[in-house]
Amino acid sequence: MEKVKTAVIGIGNMGTAHAQSLWDDRVPGLALAAVCDTDPARLAYAAKAWPGVACYASEDALLAAGGVQAAIVAVPHPLHSKIASLALAAGLHVLVEKPLDVRLSVAQALCAQAKASGKVFALMLNQRTNPLFAKARAIVQGGQLGQLKRSVWIITNWYRTQHYYDSGAWRATWAGEGGGVLLNQAPHNLDLWQWICGMPESVTGYCDVARYHHIEVEDDATIFAKYPNGATGVFITSTGEMPGTNRLEIAGTKGKLVLENGVLKWWRLKTPEDAIRFASSDNFVTPDCDYQELTPDAPESAHIGILRNFADAISHGAPLLSPGEDGLKELAISNAAYLSQWTGNAAMPLPPDTVLFDKLLAERVKTSAYKPKTDTERPDGRYSRRWQVNW
Ligand SMILES: NC(=O)c1ccc[n+]([C@@H]2O[C@H](COP(=O)([O-])OP(=O)(O)OC[C@H]3O[C@@H](n4cnc5c(N)ncnc54)[C@H](O)[C@@H]3O)[C@@H](O)[C@H]2O)c1
Repeated sequence: MEKVKTAVIGIGNMGTAHAQSLWDDRVPGLALAAVCDTDPARLAYAAKAWPGVACYASEDALLAAGGVQAAIVAVPHPLHSKIASLALAAGLHVLVEKPLDVRLSVAQALCAQAKASGKVFALMLNQRTNPLFAKARAIVQGGQLGQLKRSVWIITNWYRTQHYYDSGAWRATWAGEGGGVLLNQAPHNLDLWQWICGMPESVTGYCDVARYHHIEVEDDATIFAKYPNGATGVFITSTGEMPGTNRLEIAGTKGKLVLENGVLKWWRLKTPEDAIRFASSDNFVTPDCDYQELTPDAPESAHIGILRNFADAISHGAPLLSPGEDGLKELAISNAAYLSQWTGNAAMPLPPDTVLFDKLLAERVKTSAYKPKTDTERPDGRYSRRWQVNW
């Protein structure tokens, strides 16, 4: 079968790694046909690294030239929807980097357009390919944990230095990036959190701006969640803690799951707690559980796995592991957490008020110190270990 001619739009850290994967034939269904970047230095890199691949200085030039059937969008997040929308309108299948966009309102419009287009529309939620998260999801969504009582995720091993924030002018500014750790690093975990436990009905956010770094946005956040059945959740993330933690604990009426250090620990009560609670004639009961430790039964296929799934969806109609519209859920949580922070830490129902969110974000964008300048990072086309699940 003929390969899908694919363009990578934005060849910085992430886009260069995707382009290199296609060039190296690590994604058999996709051929690297074109790249696009507004930075001439990146185009000079591309001409050397991938001879014969068409290079464009704007998405308009790329789309006008034609000759591609799919696009991978890896530009700064505030541009995701705009460029993905142009690519869909040009008749291309589209895979967007996470998050879908900064604003839920814009991402909703993009998803509606994608649905109407009939094209394959996917999102790079590469951590979904980790088998332990898939197993945790199957257990919780399959009812084996019973009714959800509580979920707590401490995901503080997204440590970043000031040098990282200074490496790209757009980073950690309201105008250039649109948010901090909740929008850049934690979307993976916010997505997995809802993928496994379901969507909360409301969230309260504490988003601490510049707690550890000289930046405009939050580098530390805590979200309190309330689920429709009364269960509660806490999500803690930071780019300023060292050593960090990656620990997800989920309690249900039938037992408990803990994911930490690459192991999924599963306690299964022989009798559900809500059956013991009123039936027992004892004051205290020692839990009677089966206990299992699960380790991954396959490697995390990460970005390559999502790219291959995108290719299979285009060529063979395979179901997407991370459909574009799934990105609306984690974005609804982060938009609501910001809105909560900006309105005195009130509990925000989900989905949040997008009109108010857009208004309050626009106020921050107006006073943002963002000034475009040449980035200092020199991407080398490799997937960084920091982008995979780290324990
Ligand atoms: N899935 C993951 O694991 C992962 C990891 C890193 C980054 N990302 C995502 O990838 C996106 C890019 O991040 P990055 O770290 O590669 O940033 P980066 O700054 O290294 O790269 C962005 C590139 O886009 C180019 N660009 C800007 N405007 C453009 C336009 N209009 N048209 C074409 N090119 C344009 C820039 O010149 C730059 O080369 C972000 O949304 C980020 O969240 C995802």
